[in-house]
Amino acid sequence: METSQNKTSNPSLFTPGKMPAEMPIGTRSTSLDERMVNMSGLQTKGIHAWFGSHHVLEDISLDFPSNTVTGLIGPSGCGKSTFLRMLNRMHEFIPSASMAGEVFLDGEEIYAADVDVAAIRLQVGMVFQKPNPFPSMTIAENVLAGIKLANIKVKDKDSLLEECLTRAGLWKEVKDRLKLSGASLSGGQQQRLCIARALAVKPKVLLMDEPCSALDPGSTLKIEDTIHELSDTITVVIVTHNMQQAARVSDYCAFFLSDGHPGRIVEADRTDVVFTSPKDQRTADYVQGRFG
Ligand SMILES: Nc1ncnc2c1ncn2[C@@H]1O[C@H](COP(=O)(O)OP(=O)(O)OP(=O)(O)O)[C@@H](O)[C@H]1O
Ligand SMILES: [Mg+2]
Repeated sequence: METSQNKTSNPSLFTPGKMPAEMPIGTRSTSLDERMVNMSGLQTKGIHAWFGSHHVLEDISLDFPSNTVTGLIGPSGCGKSTFLRMLNRMHEFIPSASMAGEVFLDGEEIYAADVDVAAIRLQVGMVFQKPNPFPSMTIAENVLAGIKLANIKVKDKDSLLEECLTRAGLWKEVKDRLKLSGASLSGGQQQRLCIARALAVKPKVLLMDEPCSALDPGSTLKIEDTIHELSDTITVVIVTHNMQQAARVSDYCAFFLSDGHPGRIVEADRTDVVFTSPKDQRTADYVQGRFG
């Protein structure tokens, strides 16, 4: 994927309800150049995945430069979630799952023999489709749960709490009820709480698997705003079936397709290219909603 210098800069241009082809693409608050402090980040090389003998992903090589947002798009079953789980070593814990290929985080192979899986999970956080706050914990305890679990020493927990909830776009809504249960929040607030929880351990990468698919349009836009803010400092990889969302939120897009074969990448490029001048007709058909 290449870098982009031609991003417009007005997030208020995001207009829900427009068809993807009519939408401003890649409208980010900061330019890619500003955010790409270095070209480190996440890379996959020749990734394959299987469940038993079922070959579900084939030869996936992608770069996710630091502090960018990449959207993974493609029809159901093409392997997007499987691929995401390989980026933080969750795939190998599924019975029957196996894999081949390499994943590099800032140049280090995360599947190398001496790598601590727990440390990788701290660096590569994940937010799931269904908000999953711990129901028996308060809002504050939820945010700090990862810190506690990983035994990370924090001098000022109150500051960390405020910082994470602010970055997740939730602080103003919950600052007076931090001791209430996480389950007392709305679905959209719960998802932002899960983002705050993921941020507390200071990940380098945040993986998001359809984080807005269970949410109303207002909550969806709040999460998208949050993703914009986060990508100033974090690399985000987001799976979405919502083409408008992919166009609004991502710098790069990768289009996956299985079509009776293992899932492969048909096209990966800057989001504006994928949506306005894709090289492959199947990409054009998919982003225009003609299949999938
Ligand atoms: N735990 C599992 N055991 C066996 N097969 C699985 C498992 N999880 C996924 N698969 C298979 O792997 C393939 C890819 O699934 P995956 O969930 O990654 O697709 P996806 O692109 O995320 O789909 P969706 O858009 O519906 O979420 C599918 O054929 C699916 O049936
Ligand atoms: Mg999925």
